[in-house]
Amino acid sequence: MAKVAIVTGGGQGIGEGIVRQLAKDGFTVGVADLNEENAKKVAEDVGNNSRGYFVDVAEKQSLVDLVTRVASDLGDLNVMINNAGIAKIGQITETSEADLSQILDVNIKGAFFGIQAAADQMKTQGHGGKIINACSIAGHEGFELLGAYSATKFAVRGLTQVAAKELAKDQITVNAYCPGIVLTPMWDQIDAEMAKIYNVPIGASLQKNIDSIALGRGEKPADVANLVSFLSDEKSNYITGQSIIVDGGINYS
Ligand SMILES: NC(=O)c1ccc[n+]([C@@H]2O[C@H](COP(=O)([O-])OP(=O)(O)OC[C@H]3O[C@@H](n4cnc5c(N)ncnc54)[C@H](O)[C@@H]3O)[C@@H](O)[C@H]2O)c1
Repeated sequence: MAKVAIVTGGGQGIGEGIVRQLAKDGFTVGVADLNEENAKKVAEDVGNNSRGYFVDVAEKQSLVDLVTRVASDLGDLNVMINNAGIAKIGQITETSEADLSQILDVNIKGAFFGIQAAADQMKTQGHGGKIINACSIAGHEGFELLGAYSATKFAVRGLTQVAAKELAKDQITVNAYCPGIVLTPMWDQIDAEMAKIYNVPIGASLQKNIDSIALGRGEKPADVANLVSFLSDEKSNYITGQSIIVDGGINYS
């Protein structure tokens, strides 16, 4: 029987790239997103009995319901990808309480609840599993205008280390992927907001960031998905607690 994976935020961007790669690897994928229509389109497109689902990762019950439904519809859960996340751009002194709460809810609570829901399911199944979280280069280095975002990604890195230690006895590994400048709708949003703040043309902030990449091009979702494919495979069985950078060699200075 095919192995089963869940990808949150699988309706577009990096999540969609991960869904496409995991389906190629033979997984049946539960594609979950706030945008259920996108999730269903992606699932239908990749085949392998994959299915689209609604989820709001900021709500614990929504993640618990998702995991229960996927296990009942598709079979035992082998891999959980806590990918959904949002960005907020602005100086720390300008960040509103509402924006801060929203990003903490989606990026930190979303990963926390995703770990909880997947670990409960995997423990019940009794044959281990893999939990993989979306971190970022902003979880290793603080970048201007990304104070709230960086705080959430540093948190995901910490959470990944602790979960790896606590779940090892259940044969569950926990790792994270840390992309750089990935050409997705999230970066379109970041670029548009930076254009306003720095008073530069649309595309200028993105280009400046791409210029800092040693490999000389913006990152594609497939570049991230290749790492996630490895972390989802038995080849990575001896790796846990790691937050691995995949950024084409960014110069932070
Ligand atoms: N794009 C980058 O350069 C970059 C770099 C490093 C890390 N990341 C991380 O990778 C992940 C994916 O980023 P992306 O660039 O694909 O973003 P994106 O905005 O293109 O896509 C995010 C997806 O998540 C979904 N989503 C948002 N809130 C949700 C919620 N509460 N519940 C369920 N789904 C929700 C959206 O509907 C969307 O389909 C995020 O965690 C992000 O922080 C992105």
